[in-house]
Amino acid sequence: MKEKKKFYLTTPIYYPSAKLHIGNTYTTVAADALARFKRLSGYDVMFLTGTDEHGQKIQRKAEEKGVTPKEYVDEIVAGIKDLWKMMNISYDKFIRTTDDYHIESVQKIVEKLYNQGDIYKSSYEGWYCTPCESFWTETQLVDGKCPDCGRPVEKAKEEAYFFKVSKYADRLIEYIEEHPDFIQPESRKNEMLNNFLRPGLEDLCISRTSFDWGIKAPFDEKHVIYVWIDALLNYITALGYGTENDQLFQKYWPCNVHLIGKDILRFHTIYWPITLMALGLELPKQVFGHGWLLVDGGKMSKSKGNVVDPVVLINEFGADAVRYYLLHEIPFGSDGLFNNEIFIKKVNSDLANDLGNLVSRTVAMVEKYFEGIIQSPTAKEAIDEELISLALEVPVKVEDNINKLKIPEALDNIWELIRRSNKYIDETAPWILAKDEAKKERLGTVLYNLIESLRITATLLSAFLPETSEKIYKQLNVELTTWDSIFSFDGTRCGTKVQKGDVIFPRIDVAAKLEQLDKLKEATIKEAQKTAAKPIKEEITIEDFEKIDLRVVKVLECEPVKKSDKLLKLKVDLAGETRQVVSGIAKYYKPEDLVGKYVVLVANLKPVKLRGELSEGMILAASTEDDSKLFTVTIPGELPTGSEVR
Ligand code: ME8
Ligand code: MG
Repeated sequence: MKEKKKFYLTTPIYYPSAKLHIGNTYTTVAADALARFKRLSGYDVMFLTGTDEHGQKIQRKAEEKGVTPKEYVDEIVAGIKDLWKMMNISYDKFIRTTDDYHIESVQKIVEKLYNQGDIYKSSYEGWYCTPCESFWTETQLVDGKCPDCGRPVEKAKEEAYFFKVSKYADRLIEYIEEHPDFIQPESRKNEMLNNFLRPGLEDLCISRTSFDWGIKAPFDEKHVIYVWIDALLNYITALGYGTENDQLFQKYWPCNVHLIGKDILRFHTIYWPITLMALGLELPKQVFGHGWLLVDGGKMSKSKGNVVDPVVLINEFGADAVRYYLLHEIPFGSDGLFNNEIFIKKVNSDLANDLGNLVSRTVAMVEKYFEGIIQSPTAKEAIDEELISLALEVPVKVEDNINKLKIPEALDNIWELIRRSNKYIDETAPWILAKDEAKKERLGTVLYNLIESLRITATLLSAFLPETSEKIYKQLNVELTTWDSIFSFDGTRCGTKVQKGDVIFPRIDVAAKLEQLDKLKEATIKEAQKTAAKPIKEEITIEDFEKIDLRVVKVLECEPVKKSDKLLKLKVDLAGETRQVVSGIAKYYKPEDLVGKYVVLVANLKPVKLRGELSEGMILAASTEDDSKLFTVTIPGELPTGSEVR
């Protein structure tokens, strides 16, 4: 037997730090469609997903909840696995970075890099963004915040080990230039080359000592391995790389596609290939960075209360409706919108009307006119040719689009056939044929053609909408569902009996459902508000508090800081003395809104320079955790400036 071609596909491994939302579900649904399609079209597929369980972020969350990090992640990982089950994600392996074999392999790998001189000891002084688990230098920060996510960073100064990535940078640039498919879409490739590689790559800090939830560095137990190195290595440790049991690695590496979101492209197209180069391994064939799933009003965030919960949607509409929206409505590679109304309307038009009606009309007619028995197609007519030739072209078109990772276009191809079949019903008007006994044979042929077209449709749909595909197979009583069988228009067996089932996509009352979803959302927001508030910090004494000198000041002047869209420069009056304060509130206030206001200043804070401007103190403000909303603390009346706030 000919050996099957191999296809190795991965999703990112998820941080089990919060419940998954529709945005992060997207990566895995897209990967699942690819994996299923490759299996269908004859590949031996390895589809890997999992969870990225180490790092400071997880340790903090666990501390906040008062449980161990392992207890904390175990619970969330169980929830993620449940979600994948509900979504029908057909992964072949689920890796957890807390798995023993992963930990052992990571230690062996970094030991090897250390022994060959690619890892060296130095000290780190810079800024760390915990939500992104990313290191930044002063100059990389944008307005003092993380350039990736815009959230505050923390100063990190510690002894650390570094990975000599600079040594490999030229080789990587060359590789990227010579392999145009390596980074996709194309636009993202230039971003990586121009923003990170060509300006010169700095060595990567790969160990931490300030917390311990991670894999210990074998050459220095005080250090834990940087969570991104730990995480990226999952793609090979999952296959047994570095152990005696490395058959899977031998079989599937190099990876065909690492499917990821655009936010983590830098790690996958710079640090990951360099790690592989240092290990002397082949590089993955492609890293594909898909776009961002937005909701009305932008990014999803807990505090905005606009996080879309996939579980709610699956319970209301079924997994395939959600899969259809994600796979078809988001242009693959670009950002896309999730919106309840568009979602429901799409379910009605594409799934209930086009597809659902085709199935139920076809099955109902076979039952009505032939007691459910599929007839032999003996009375062909010229008009059939258009349907048949399209049905035979569609698998080729779908495969071609999938090979280019054009998932929405592949679904368009399938819907072209569905719509053509509906048109064929109108053209042939079976109900008129049924009135004439002499046309019975022709009627049987028309219905055969519809069933056969649906068999091909359902087989193709098995990659995208697996539950729906099964339902159609069942109603049509289809036996042949292989890839090869959809390249000829004769796979339906005559004499078998169709079985009418439930409507596969009931029509939804848009207004009523929207109202119901809004109510569910309100409940979710309330729930989120309850859990979003940070826990109260460690207790302090009144003496501790009195160290902070808070004073009422009046804003005299205010102007934007040059070359910054976040900072404002304020001149404030403090008991006759004028002070300059730089504050990151430009997004929330126009300079003129602040002049004349009485605000609260932390008056004894050590002065710092921000963007070259001296800041003598800090203005107090209250904000949501993600900084989507912010208000300065103002005094609602007039007080002499310099008055104490206690
Ligand atoms: O980044 N729209 O994990 P993660 C589209 N542990 N995709 C989104 C999204 C949105 N709104 N929000 C998140 C990590 N994603 C690392 C990966 S891999 C070695 C380590 C995507 O849980 C995001 O782009 O933060 C990523 O592909 C996936 O969800 C997991 O994100
Ligand atoms: Mg992330």
